[in-house]
Amino acid sequence: MDNLSVLLICAVAHVILASVFSVAGSTVTAYPPPYGLDSAASFHSSSDGNLIPVRREVYGNGRIFDITHTLRPGMPSWGSEEGLGQFLWLPASMKNGSEANNSEMKLPTHTGTHIDAPGHVYDHYFDAGFDVDTLDLEVLNGPALVVDVPRDKNITAEVMKSLNIPKGVKRVLFRTLNKACFAFRRLMWKKAFDTSYVGFMKDGAQWLVDNTDIKLVGIDYLSVAAYDDLIPSHLVFLKDREVILVEALKLDDIKLGIYNVHCLPLRMLGAEGSPIRCILIK
Ligand SMILES: *[C@@H]1O[C@H](CO)[C@@H](O)[C@H](O)[C@H]1NC(C)=O
Ligand SMILES: *[C@@H]1O[C@H](CO)[C@@H](O)[C@H](O)[C@H]1NC(C)=O
Ligand SMILES: *[C@@H]1O[C@H](CO)[C@@H](O)[C@H](O)[C@H]1NC(C)=O
Repeated sequence: MDNLSVLLICAVAHVILASVFSVAGSTVTAYPPPYGLDSAASFHSSSDGNLIPVRREVYGNGRIFDITHTLRPGMPSWGSEEGLGQFLWLPASMKNGSEANNSEMKLPTHTGTHIDAPGHVYDHYFDAGFDVDTLDLEVLNGPALVVDVPRDKNITAEVMKSLNIPKGVKRVLFRTLNKACFAFRRLMWKKAFDTSYVGFMKDGAQWLVDNTDIKLVGIDYLSVAAYDDLIPSHLVFLKDREVILVEALKLDDIKLGIYNVHCLPLRMLGAEGSPIRCILIK
């Protein structure tokens, strides 16, 4: 199938879904299917009286969007065919006599929706302590633009130029062809790591640094850098320790436009990456 047909199918599908869901009179989104629907209650009772938690993607009457992927065993993990796998254990559980359930977790710091600190690709920054705890919360919180990039290219200097992002814009979340559309790509919903995701080529990263005021770069798969320019693009972004990279954002159902973004990484001393919770507020 060529790109145009895929685009057309996606567009038609979105229209159909939009009408189905607007009949139901809710702000429910089409993805991800396994999750519960948006609801005012945090749980409801099933017919047999069991408590069932409701998981939400949108809060506050359609004003607050969670753009963080839920950490789950089947999510993709860098370089792996098998996905993240088990990351939670329950060493103390009420079932075998503890007073409370107490879980432990183990996961690569660059898992799911996450952040890169300068120490990720610069050894001397790592040694000097430029970890996730040193990242500027002012950059991570404030007005942000959600933009689409062309589906048929990685993000080159030419693509960056064509986006015409105005000077003064400090935070941009780039939605790529990695975004969901039925069987199209939905890379973050596939277990196997896929190297063909769309990301920044080195010249695209350089163009952004040289010609824009962007300090927060967000993207919707596990790396802002295209696989072929993996390290070179990271080096360009993180060289001056001014740009913060947020990866694997869940932008599937987000409308393009201006929001306030709020991103908070964990304060882990010595970590060059951290899972992060990001939301958009309209
Ligand atoms: C309690 O159960 C968990 C699994 O639920 C197990 O990992 C743990 O070893 C058990 N602890 C003891 C003391 O039996
Ligand atoms: C965890 O705690 C709940 C009570 O809050 C208990 O019903 C449940 O059995 C516990 N889970 C395990 C695996 O022990
Ligand atoms: C983007 O680059 C990757 C390699 O880094 C490649 O596999 C993929 O096909 C490229 N995507 C497009 C749309 O050109």
